[in-house]
Amino acid sequence: MKDKGVDFVWFDGQYLKWEEAKVPIFVHALHYGTAVFEGIRAYSSDDNLYIFRLKEHMERLHKSANVYSFTTRFSVDELCKATAELIRKNSIRQSCYIRPLTFVGLHGIDLNVTKNSPTHTTIIIFPFAKYFKGDGISACISSWRRIDDESIPPMAKASGNYLNSVLATQECRRNGYDESILLDRNGNVSEASGENIFVVRNGKLHTPQLADSILEGITRNTAITIAKELGYEVVERPISRTELYLADEIFLTGTAAEIIAITKIDGNIVGNGREGSITKSIRENYENIVTGKSEKFMGWLTPSW
Ligand SMILES: Cc1ncc(COP(=O)(O)O)c(C=O)c1O
Repeated sequence: MKDKGVDFVWFDGQYLKWEEAKVPIFVHALHYGTAVFEGIRAYSSDDNLYIFRLKEHMERLHKSANVYSFTTRFSVDELCKATAELIRKNSIRQSCYIRPLTFVGLHGIDLNVTKNSPTHTTIIIFPFAKYFKGDGISACISSWRRIDDESIPPMAKASGNYLNSVLATQECRRNGYDESILLDRNGNVSEASGENIFVVRNGKLHTPQLADSILEGITRNTAITIAKELGYEVVERPISRTELYLADEIFLTGTAAEIIAITKIDGNIVGNGREGSITKSIRENYENIVTGKSEKFMGWLTPSW
């Protein structure tokens, strides 16, 4: 979002005009990437604007901060309430993206960030529709390896992690692909630059396990839940690169990307070259759930209004 899109942001407990929320150029996060964040969506439906799995996202923000010993300063509950209030304050009724961010402030150049280091938390929202256009994308295997638990833990959603994703995205776009898939240090499939990955083979779903350098995606968890509801077996295990070439279907899951089929991988057509039937049924169920059309999963939705 290059333009502001809305009038107000939430910043350390206050609702500020977008252009009035400013930070000094010496904030630690700007220099060292010492920040954690979330990506959340709110979906407009006939009767409300529903925020999807808000609590789980704010809990993950807290957990990510904890990995780096940051203090978020606001409870999960306070952040959830502030998000809904921010939507109302901006009079937003259309689907939007929500970006909470906790970052280390004026801490000098010392790298010993502790629970006492100054942090700030902000929530920014903006109208948002589709991330990928169409119902199938092309992907390539990146020459960059995914960051690793032995260096930068991928399970914490930290800003610095995304330098790895930037390199992979630059490479894939340069070569004409929509998205990049990164392998972990052992050469197994990890995840895409901003999404988790699922492979369908012989009617069964497979997805990399947590130890394969992935973010524990909330959409991943949603897709697993839907797949099991539909009666499919889901296996979390190491996946080799070649399995992608042998797959009947491949799809990605992520808050921004939602559920999107990969129809071409490294130039090889996946399945029949279109979104597969299992991906389609999971995507359609997902779309019903996020827009409040599934009674069973209303507990995942927070009404904004
Ligand atoms: C690297 C990475 N993996 C996976 C995901 C998917 O996570 P979620 O479904 O919680 O949005 C994201 C998006 O946040 C991501 O950036």
